[in-house]
Amino acid sequence: MIKSISLKIPASSANLGPGFDCVAVALNLYTKFTAQLTTDDKFSISYPAAIPKKLITVKNNLVLDSYQKTCRKHHWPIKYFKLTCSEMVPFESGLGSSATAIVGGIVIAYAFNMQTLNRHKILDDAYDIENHPDNIAAAIFGGFTCAFHQDKGCYLVKTPITKNLHCLIIRPSEATNTKTSRQKLLKEITLTDAKNNLARAVTMVASIINGEYENLQESMLDLMHEPYRINPKCQYPALKKKLLGKEFYGWSLSGSGPSVIILASKNSKKLKTTIFSHFRSLEMKIDLLELIIDNEGFSYST
Ligand code: HSE
Repeated sequence: MIKSISLKIPASSANLGPGFDCVAVALNLYTKFTAQLTTDDKFSISYPAAIPKKLITVKNNLVLDSYQKTCRKHHWPIKYFKLTCSEMVPFESGLGSSATAIVGGIVIAYAFNMQTLNRHKILDDAYDIENHPDNIAAAIFGGFTCAFHQDKGCYLVKTPITKNLHCLIIRPSEATNTKTSRQKLLKEITLTDAKNNLARAVTMVASIINGEYENLQESMLDLMHEPYRINPKCQYPALKKKLLGKEFYGWSLSGSGPSVIILASKNSKKLKTTIFSHFRSLEMKIDLLELIIDNEGFSYST
């Protein structure tokens, strides 16, 4: 019987380019925690001091919530455990922190009930909680993922990224709540916009899979969600013009924002200097994360 499981689950950048709700990459930034069975008849949690208390109550905890939903769905007994978290993907920053918590809760449920950790089944369970498959697919499988849900389950293609692809993440200080941000989106779009998004999406996907990154600059343009979610204060169109050059491949709002992901040939000093000077001139504070693709998805030890 498994009494303890340690998990490492990657962050992700979803809605990549025109791939709204379906295309994502996993990133080498992680949520890490351990769940240890206890004889107490309640859950307990311990998180790093830097995480605000309101986000870590037992009552309002996405890991525990997803664990319990999964146990109930499969009619498995709910066993109590102590959850000790050592690292967290930043909350509400567009980097798939919720997906790491949901996937974590589900994997704990499988492990403590001695179930095979079948990644496709975990994806279906995670979809039932998250309702869109992009971040969860990347968190579970790693790499570059394309996914959709139909009728009984999720369809997924994962491609490991083997050709050099660096990711610069601009993370402004505000937080974005995905539910609220989805309400800003149009209910319908024109046939012309749909056709253009589709054409770019298939070109972007083929370009990433073939390593033809020079096509990304144009094919990563999105008409479906980015225009309604991007913060005008950041003046991204002006920044994008300053970044154009050999090292710059393409860019996208990450998830529902506010982070933006820049795909580049290397973590160029020039790109970073341009980004910092842009935000300095706007008197805005940002974090700039330099990441690469995680090709593994979640990993664990018991
Ligand atoms: N596809 C999701 C959305 C990603 O745009 O709402 C954020 O969870």
